[in-house]
Amino acid sequence: MNQRIVLSSDHAAIALRQAVASHIAAKGWTVVDIGPTTPESTPYPKHGEAAARLVASGDCDLGIILCGTGQGIMMAANKIKGIRCGVCMDTFSARMIRQHNNANMLALGARVVGEGLALDIVDAFLGAAFEGGRHAARVEMIAMLEA
Ligand code: RB5
Repeated sequence: MNQRIVLSSDHAAIALRQAVASHIAAKGWTVVDIGPTTPESTPYPKHGEAAARLVASGDCDLGIILCGTGQGIMMAANKIKGIRCGVCMDTFSARMIRQHNNANMLALGARVVGEGLALDIVDAFLGAAFEGGRHAARVEMIAMLEA
């Protein structure tokens, strides 16, 4: 569990991001929360990119990014080479994007899921591991699309 988890959000998801940070820190994960902390409107692509670059570089192992829907910040993060980010609104998907897709980032929508469900989704994501095997070649095909 000694892994570094980067968190970022836009203005729409500051409270949920902070709840996620407290939740996973209490469980022993190392949290790298790159904000923002003030409520002014701020564009989600910049925060998705910043977190994604920390994961792509290896400075952080995994990332959790949040905006109103989770969709915009996920789209931005997935533009960074090496990033596999999925928006999840249920725990099954959160587990599967790790087990089958080797997702290295999770996106959440603060205007879509409540805090209780969001924290369960985070636990499902962080608690799962890539299964490899037949899934490895498929994930490699995703990487080839970046070439
Ligand atoms: C901000 O109002 C909102 O558009 C943003 O948080 C997000 O939902 C975009 O995908």
